[in-house]
Amino acid sequence: MGTHDRRLSAVQAINDAVESRRLSLQEKLDSRKTIKERRKLGQFATPISLARDIVAFGLEHIDTPDNIRFFDPAFGTGAFYSALLQETESIKITNATAIEIDPLFADAASSLWFDYSIKIFNSDFTDIEPDTQYNMIICNPPYVRHHLIEGEGKVRIKNKTEKISGVRLSGLAGLYCHFLLQSIQWMDDGAVAGWLIPSEFMDVNYGKAIKAFLLSEVELFRIHRFNPEDAQFSDALVSSAVVWFRKKKPTNLNVTFSYGGSLAVPHECKNIAVDSLRQESKWTRFPTQPQRFVKQSAPKLKDYFDVKRGIATGGNDFFILAESRISELGLPLEFFRPVLPSARYVKTTEIESDAFGNPILSQKLFLLDCRLSEDEIKEGYPLLWQYLESGKGSVANGYLCKTRKCWYFQEQREAPVLVCTYMGRSMGKRKGAFRFILNNSRATVTNSYLALYPHKNLSEQFIATPSLKRTIWEMLNGMTADSLLDEGRVYGGGLQKIEPKELLNVDVPFLLGIV
Ligand SMILES: C[S@@+](CC[C@H](N)C(=O)[O-])C[C@H]1O[C@@H](n2cnc3c(N)ncnc32)[C@H](O)[C@@H]1O
Repeated sequence: MGTHDRRLSAVQAINDAVESRRLSLQEKLDSRKTIKERRKLGQFATPISLARDIVAFGLEHIDTPDNIRFFDPAFGTGAFYSALLQETESIKITNATAIEIDPLFADAASSLWFDYSIKIFNSDFTDIEPDTQYNMIICNPPYVRHHLIEGEGKVRIKNKTEKISGVRLSGLAGLYCHFLLQSIQWMDDGAVAGWLIPSEFMDVNYGKAIKAFLLSEVELFRIHRFNPEDAQFSDALVSSAVVWFRKKKPTNLNVTFSYGGSLAVPHECKNIAVDSLRQESKWTRFPTQPQRFVKQSAPKLKDYFDVKRGIATGGNDFFILAESRISELGLPLEFFRPVLPSARYVKTTEIESDAFGNPILSQKLFLLDCRLSEDEIKEGYPLLWQYLESGKGSVANGYLCKTRKCWYFQEQREAPVLVCTYMGRSMGKRKGAFRFILNNSRATVTNSYLALYPHKNLSEQFIATPSLKRTIWEMLNGMTADSLLDEGRVYGGGLQKIEPKELLNVDVPFLLGIV
């Protein structure tokens, strides 16, 4: 072994040692927090093998691999920096900077990397300005959902994202979207960025603005989507993608989309024309499915039905009571309406009804739905008043109840004719994850279902020909898993989900002849 090789293997040994210290530090810090606390800050580390794949790919695409100016705005313990040290010589890293909001992680990481030339700032990335620009950003940003970003902070982050990128993101966009767009001001011209993010933005409405940005303001060159069946992060069940772009006006005609396997050796890989990407609303169909051509003639579910999410009660445990509990508490039944148990407990696809319109199910549940004022209740229904009092300080202070005119007023939703269980796992090609349930009762549903309401014409036809309901229900249940999934989404671990707008867009050519 020559001197150079000896030196290299000594460096490798040092890097391996620091990586193993980092790993045990990561485990120690993770174990100090509950899952809920970690979710709040999106604290789910990147496995080192994945971090190395990502960094290696970045190094292949950076213009000046001998002069790396590296930036990670969501550092954690530094999986990507560690990967960088393993994938290149430290002499080539001329600047390395990182940001971490959590002092616990920032302090621990500062000690771990004390002897290395990396600056670690304990700050909120969305709240600081760049000191300089970098030519390589690699980041696994916090996957913090929009409702966990707090009120005033949300407005500030939104405004800042718009100021930097020109993109006004929807309030539904998660923190990771803001990270990606805000990072632009930290990038040098021609800099390369690799973002490990949920693939959700590729299909949903709030992602449209990001996709337009990626196609027009920077040069998007690669998206690799991992197979959701093989969840990358066992503790944060999301299906992830790595999105690669350069900070420059785009000149490319194609973007490489790959799927499954690894970034370096994907199972499938195709170049997709930028024009196709502009037209297609669901990018997750690439590269496994061909481009869709706009179908003019196929009717969609929205031509026959409205779809609404079931009621969000603001506290199912409080507002939904079993029949036995209602009589035990002596509450007046007139203020309760039947409600179906959560989709997970209803195994059937048809709900029969008793003479009162109540569903015939072993679990008989009722939703407290009283529109009287507190004074009226206190005077006329003291037991109900007492029950409502017991919800004060807890249920009544929940987000939803607090935003209502009167905290216990429920949304007024008629019993739907058909409901759809919009989340589940598929069991083979024909047996889809979503079930359509024919509801013959007057039970309403909570938001574990999507409720289908026929348009006026169709509802008149249902009255004239009652068997039509059943025919349509059977046809909907006969749809293949694929035709529904064309519109829905697949999450980590194979969980499938369809949103109201997506369900409305499902093609229902079979209804043409019969309605
Ligand atoms: C998904 S983890 C990634 C950590 C690490 N880079 C890795 O790949 O293993 C996201 C990190 O961002 C941090 N974080 C969350 N919000 C942040 C913010 N506003 N500014 C900076 N860091 C933030 C979290 O504490 C967490 O350590």
